[in-house]
Order: sequence, then structure tokens, then C-alpha cells
Amino acid sequence: MSASAVLPDGRICRYSLRERVVHWIAGISYLYLLLTGLAFWSPWLFWLATLFGGGTVSRELHPWAGLVFVIAVGFMYGLWANQMHTTQTDREFWRALPHYVRNEDEEVPPADRFNGGQKVLFWGFFWCGIFLLLSGLILWFPPLIPWSLRYFRYAAVIIHPVAALLTIGLFIIHVYMGTALERGSCHSMVRGDVSAGWARKFHPAWYDRLMRAPH
Ligand code: HEM
Repeated sequence: MSASAVLPDGRICRYSLRERVVHWIAGISYLYLLLTGLAFWSPWLFWLATLFGGGTVSRELHPWAGLVFVIAVGFMYGLWANQMHTTQTDREFWRALPHYVRNEDEEVPPADRFNGGQKVLFWGFFWCGIFLLLSGLILWFPPLIPWSLRYFRYAAVIIHPVAALLTIGLFIIHVYMGTALERGSCHSMVRGDVSAGWARKFHPAWYDRLMRAPH
């Protein structure tokens, strides 16, 4: 089942199996990173580490999970980057944001496969992933950084939590939108398909394009 295909029963394939597997590897590794990272961040949250085998085990596995997450985000880049460029419709989407928030759909420019907000989420995770990787590598192997380059170590101590906090903001909005706000979204990321009504409501330009294409 390839993405953006109309299925024989009239439903539409939104995410291919490959897209879903990559997404959930990113999602599960991110959750692990989030919970263990919060445990390292504040003594008030250290109890979270006990859920994952204690502080030592979490500290050992956190960087490896970080590599899994960054590799998954790299695969996401390969799958979706060419569909995430900002278009004129996205700029109009941001101007129409108050209408979007009030569910005044007729005032919102018709979104293609991804709307302006989803694109910001994608690039936000991508760039934060790069900063988390670079700062994380320095924090992983501090003795490899010579004393003359110690400012990179100081910078890493700041950049790592700042990038993580930015992703937490994105993550909360993303999970809220994907689970509570847009009914049917989560199904698409689990089973791959959406109803024609869902596609018409949330991504009308994508729906129209698919209906015009021969199938
Ligand atoms: C673990 C909790 C997560 C849940 C419940 C979740 C849920 C979803 C759902 C339901 C969709 C489909 C949205 C649609 O097509 O309308 C989606 C898409 C997507 N997810 Fe997640 N996700 C999670 C974690 C993540 C993480 C950690 C990332 C960061 C790499 C991520 C990145 C994306 C991207 C880039 C898309 C496609 C664009 C978009 O819909 O925003 N997701 N997710």
C-alpha cells in the first residue's frame, strides 16, 4: 500500500508501511529520551529513571536511544523533506491561523498532504535533532574535547536542554493534534489509511489531487 493512493474500498492510503515504521521508531525512541532526559534534568524528576532500570542504566542507554532517534529522523527526512517545502498556501495558512483555531474551515486555505503547521513540526524536529546530536556527542565523550575547545562543552550543556525543551513544545502540540483534535489521524499512523471524508476535511487540496488522478 503506497502513500497517497486511493484504495479499492474508496479509503485513501495516507502513510505507507515504511513511513509508519520510521515514525514509530522515532516516536518510541523520543519517549524514552524524553523521560530519561527529564530524569537527568531535575532531581525532582529523577524518579523517572527508576522506571527504566535506574540512573546508571538510563545514563548508559540514553545516548544510544538518541542515535536511534536521530537515524529515524534522518529516514523521515528522506521520506518527507521534498513534501515539506513552504508554499504560498502555507503562508496563507499562517495568516488564517485564527480561523483554523476556531474551526472556520471555509476561511482556511486548502491544505495539501501536509499543512503549514505539520511542516513546521517536521523542520523543528529535524533541526532540533541535529543540535541534540551535536551537543549530545560532546556530552557523551567529554574527555575527547581538548581543554582549548572547552567553550564547545559549555555550549553543549546549554544547547542540549534548550533544543530538548523546544522539541517538548512541538511534541505536546503534535500528540494533542494527532490524538484528540483530528479524529482519524492516529488510525492513519497505525493502519495507514483514512476515510475520504477525513481527507476532504483536513487536506482538501490533497484529496482533490488524488480524485483527479487516474486510479
Ligand atoms: C509518541 C507519540 C506520537 C504520536 C502519538 C504521534 C502521532 C502522529 C499522528 C497521528 C500522525 C499523523 C498526522 C496526520 O497525518 O494528520 C503523525 C505524523 C507525524 N509525526 Fe508523529 N506522533 C508521535 C511522535 C512523533 C515524534 C517524536 C516525531 C518526531 C520526529 C513525530 C513526527 C511526525 C511527523 C513529521 C509527522 C508527519 C507530519 C505531521 O502530521 O505532523 N511524531 N504523528
